[in-house]
Amino acid sequence: MKSAYVHGYDPRETRRLQDQASTLVELLHSDTSYPEGSSVLEAGCGVGAQTVTLASNSPKALITSIDVSEASIAEARRTVQAAGIGSVTLRQADIFHLPFPPASFDHVFLCFVLEHLAQPVEALRALKSGLRPGGTITVIEGDHGSTYF
Ligand SMILES: C[S@@+](CC[C@H](N)C(=O)[O-])C[C@H]1O[C@@H](n2cnc3c(N)ncnc32)[C@H](O)[C@@H]1O
Repeated sequence: MKSAYVHGYDPRETRRLQDQASTLVELLHSDTSYPEGSSVLEAGCGVGAQTVTLASNSPKALITSIDVSEASIAEARRTVQAAGIGSVTLRQADIFHLPFPPASFDHVFLCFVLEHLAQPVEALRALKSGLRPGGTITVIEGDHGSTYF
């Protein structure tokens, strides 16, 4: 899965993700905040570009952010620390092999991840198994069919 990630993991991609996230803060996050004490899984957090906004909008939620790439997690850790955020746990993990007991989370958030997976439905099933009954999942993807060249 890691080698199949089309954008790769170089510094240019880190900048692209940070730029993308900063231009989309209002559009993507204006209606996303989680209650105090709730447990949130951010799946495929990349370099933490969305993590900072998630945590800032929900300062009393307990956010766990995972990515399959160890290098991205290390970058995300730097980003989160630089923003002075202490409510996020970062961990290298694969969506398809979640290292958490079933029903560990109240909410799942993922953004621009399913479009990179060969088995997006299986990914959603795996993430659903991590949710408590009544939990929610927020999925954001681009509509790449809307522009033609
Ligand atoms: C386009 S980036 C999006 C990152 C972040 N959500 C954002 O919006 O800035 C997609 C991320 O999904 C991660 N990813 C791909 N397959 C994964 C998997 N099976 N488990 C966890 N993360 C995965 C990639 O490593 C990459 O960091």
